[in-house]
Amino acid sequence: MVRKPTAEDKFSFGLWTVGWTGVDPFGSNTRDSLDPWQYSDKLAELGAWGITFHDNDVFPFDADDSTRERIVKQLKDAADKAGLVIEMVTTNTFTHPVFKDGGLTSNDRSVRRFGLRKILKNVDLAAEMGASTFVMWGGREGAEYDSSKDLMAAHRRYAEGLDVVAGYVKSQGYDMRIALEPKPNEPRGDIFLPSIGHALALISQLDNGDIVGLNPEVGHEQMANLNYTHGLALALMCNKLFHIDLNGQKGLKYDQDLVFGHGDLLSAFFTVDLLVNGFAASPDAPRYDGPIHFDYKPSRTEGMEGVWESAQANMDSYLMLADKARAFRKDPEVQEVMKKASIFELGEPTLAEGENVADFLAAEEPFDAKALGEREYHFVKLHQMALQHLIG
Ligand code: GCO
Ligand code: MN
Ligand code: MN
Repeated sequence: MVRKPTAEDKFSFGLWTVGWTGVDPFGSNTRDSLDPWQYSDKLAELGAWGITFHDNDVFPFDADDSTRERIVKQLKDAADKAGLVIEMVTTNTFTHPVFKDGGLTSNDRSVRRFGLRKILKNVDLAAEMGASTFVMWGGREGAEYDSSKDLMAAHRRYAEGLDVVAGYVKSQGYDMRIALEPKPNEPRGDIFLPSIGHALALISQLDNGDIVGLNPEVGHEQMANLNYTHGLALALMCNKLFHIDLNGQKGLKYDQDLVFGHGDLLSAFFTVDLLVNGFAASPDAPRYDGPIHFDYKPSRTEGMEGVWESAQANMDSYLMLADKARAFRKDPEVQEVMKKASIFELGEPTLAEGENVADFLAAEEPFDAKALGEREYHFVKLHQMALQHLIG
């Protein structure tokens, strides 16, 4: 262990992560499940600060109101006793067969009305649990066949559903924000809102989009061959980075949900660098100070010991990378090379203060294209210095 995490580290885990029993499309469970309230003590002992859950991680899909109340209370008591915050709650609109064509975008209107009610009911539960973020992952919102949907109507229904949920949060006066979680595919062949950029575009069309932002997941962006850290940067610029799902992924394959750092390590390093150090040339830029939430799966090869080892591994990876990232940025030699690479110069606006386009076009300034074409940026040296800090 690097050091024991503290509440300031704000590490949190979904109950469905440590609670995953190893069922996959090819095999049955390799572990038994515990009751939802049995995870709190151990997570707290390892140094976690919070937990998160789907409604149906806690109570069954068809639970009646009194069963639901009883089970939820048991979970909340266990979390309180362990000193854990329930920082986020999310809705399962993907497991039950009724959702096979989606919850908010099903072609069947009665399914959409059912899905929306399930989500709204869960918003109330989230508020009751004190959650500040309500994640919406549209796992079944999508299609296998382009012939199967009016794609305009599907996106309109998605926006309609999100607006109703966001409007409800506001009308109830809940201190909660909604965070959409993009994913390109799996379980649907194509999921709507496949990337951070797609989600931002849809949010811009909402009436209640001011309280709707993002919960980007490492593996989901990497499944689409996209750069997670770049996505976080854009979301921050748009003031939309509300929550994060950290895990590990090795390239373009199924959603692996590995331990954070067990996928693309250098990418994980720069993600943590952004989270702990912020942008090098933009000190005024928004920073992320929300929960460090892990959405991983303890591999099927692991038993209960492995579950806790892997939970701890996520936090360890983050802490190790945070130490390395801080040392990297503080290193005077690194700063020197960053200067030579003009990293800080990118923070300067291209036009001068007060300069208009006419002035700009009329300005006569010397520019040596040949020399500038030949200038060196030293990006490779800088990157190698990151590697030296990381593994040297
Ligand atoms: C996945 C997703 C989920 C969501 C969760 C929250 O690929 O399965 O990452 O784990 O994060 O459903 O809504
Ligand atoms: Mn995932
Ligand atoms: Mn996730």
